[in-house]
Formats: sequence, C-alpha cells, structure tokens
Amino acid sequence: MVNKTHPRLEERLEPANWIDGIELPMTLLEHIPEASASLADLAGRSIVSARQFSREQVIQLCRLAAKYETTQAMGQFPLTGKILISAFYEPSTRTRLSFESVWQRLGGDIITITDPATTGIAKGESLHDVAEMMNHYGDMVVLRDTHEDAIYEMLDVTRIPIINAGNGTDEHPTQALADLYALFKWRPDLLAAEVPEDQRITIGIIGVPGRMRTVRSLLLLLSLISHAIREVVIICDCEDTFSPEQREELEAAGLKLRVTGELDPVLPELDLVYINAIAWVGDSYEEHGVRYQLNRQSPLKESAIILHPLARGAELSTDLDDTPHNWYFAQARGAVYVRMALMTTLVRF
Ligand code: CP
Repeated sequence: MVNKTHPRLEERLEPANWIDGIELPMTLLEHIPEASASLADLAGRSIVSARQFSREQVIQLCRLAAKYETTQAMGQFPLTGKILISAFYEPSTRTRLSFESVWQRLGGDIITITDPATTGIAKGESLHDVAEMMNHYGDMVVLRDTHEDAIYEMLDVTRIPIINAGNGTDEHPTQALADLYALFKWRPDLLAAEVPEDQRITIGIIGVPGRMRTVRSLLLLLSLISHAIREVVIICDCEDTFSPEQREELEAAGLKLRVTGELDPVLPELDLVYINAIAWVGDSYEEHGVRYQLNRQSPLKESAIILHPLARGAELSTDLDDTPHNWYFAQARGAVYVRMALMTTLVRF
C-alpha cells in the first residue's frame, strides 16, 4: 500500500453544484406551454420504437423532463410500491443505471437481471413464458436485448408496459428522446411550429443509420422536426449506409439527407455534430468509421455542439471535454430526467 498523501486531499473536495446549467431547462420550460393531455395517450403503453411518439408528445416529455431537472428535491414518491423489472442482457452504463436511479428516486423497487443465463432461458425456456411470469412480478419492464425481435415476442404476452432500452441494431428510443431534450435545451427556438430558413440547423451524423440503433431512433425523431432542419449530413464510409427503405421513409417525412465519406470538409457547415462509432451486433460490437475523429483541432464551427450517446472510444477526444462543444455530458445527464418523465407517464397510477 502507498502511504503517501494523495495530492487531491490537499483540496476541499467539494461536490459539484447541482445548479450549474440549470438555466437551460428553466428556459426550455418557459418555451413550452403545458399541454399534458397528449401524454395521457401513452399511459399503460409499451415503448418499442421512436415511431410511436408524436411531435407534441416529444415536446411535452421534454417539458416534463425540464420540470424534473429544475426540481432538486422531488418531495413526491409516486412509484412507491411499484416494482421495475430491469432486464439488461447486454452491457450498459447509462441506460440501466439511469432507469434504475429514476425508479428508485421516485420511490419504487427494482428486480434486476443482467444475465439471461441466471433465468430459465438457460434451460431453454421461451421468452414468451418469461414475459408471462414478469406480468406477476413487476409493474414495468425495461429490456435491453441483443436480438431485435425479443421485445416484439414479449409484447405478445406482457400486460405491463415494456420499454425498449436497445434491441440489437434496431432502436433505442429513449436515447433519442434524450438527444432531442439536449437539442431543445440548446435551441428552444427550434420548438416553434415555423422556423425561418436562416435559423434552421444543419446536423451532421457520424455513424451508420442502417446499423446503429441510436442513429436509427434519432433520425425518426428528427423527422418530426424536419421543418427546423436545413439538412442532415450523414458521414459514413460504408457501402450499406441505410437499411432497406429507411432513407425513403425519412425523406418522405421531410428530412433532407446527404451522405459524404469525408468529415473535415463538411464540419465547418455543421451546427450540431452527432457522433457514434459502435454498433452492437449479436454478442459483440462493431466499430465503424474509425478514421473519423473529433478533437480540438477539428474544424468545428465555433458555436457547434457535439452530442454522443456514449460510451466513447477514440472517435471523440477527451480534449474536447472542457470546451463549449461538449454537450454530450449534458445529454447523458438529461437522459435521467427524460426517463423520469417517460416512466411517470407510462405507469398507470
Ligand atoms: N447510450 C447508451 O445506450 O449507453 P449505455 O450502453 O451505457 O447504456
């Protein structure tokens, strides 16, 4: 054991001030009139895809998230007596911990499964039967599964809401809600029904829409605010950029899409840069776009912000962390409040 006083112990080691950045959700709250009736339609429902949300629902969920983010002490425990079944059959830092944190903060209890081999699945039990049992043990399921179809199989028998926390390469709808929450805190003016041409934003997505669930869900939500977006530029060096019919569907919804193989020439055009390099496929992950990297030397617009669903690798340098471009930590923090908003909306009290 090292018997030396660590230099950090010379400091006061004060916790960070929770009020830092609070003006952003406060401003967002001022921009969104309460119209929570649109959320009533979500009560008791399962959330599998970003397709299920209307524009108004996304906005009202962001409003509720902002309300939670600006309230340090909830003073209410609406989930007391409710049990969450947290089933994560694939690694997760943010999604599992934030869902579980939210549920506990709201007074609920949690049953966690992180390895399907500890359930009857190891003995050949069907997902169908596991889901039937879950109906009796909990009030909501949050599921991350490597198989795209698993959540759809479970939907057939569950009578409690299930939230898709990532199903293979398909979707990650609550991550996309967190992305939109960050976007609206950055630019609340984009909430307007009409956004003047010169105020619209150009978004760059470094990733593979056909294979990355975060990007797939994000694009679906962006299509709800296509009137606020000048163009979405996909930066990708693979052949199958889109899955079948994906591009057609997004363009039909109003998104203007461009694909390029080069990052640096397009960076000075971008107001928002979304970067991700990992696609979880089966029991492992693929890394895409290893030649695309963002760092302090990247020719970013001075006002551009960077979002990343995290976990990050070499594609996003830590030397950007203490620059104004770093919105990825705020995005991860906001995910807690967005999930709080979604869970309290889905649970039937
Ligand atoms: N963004 C995200 O899904 O992170 P985790 O894999 O850590 O849950």
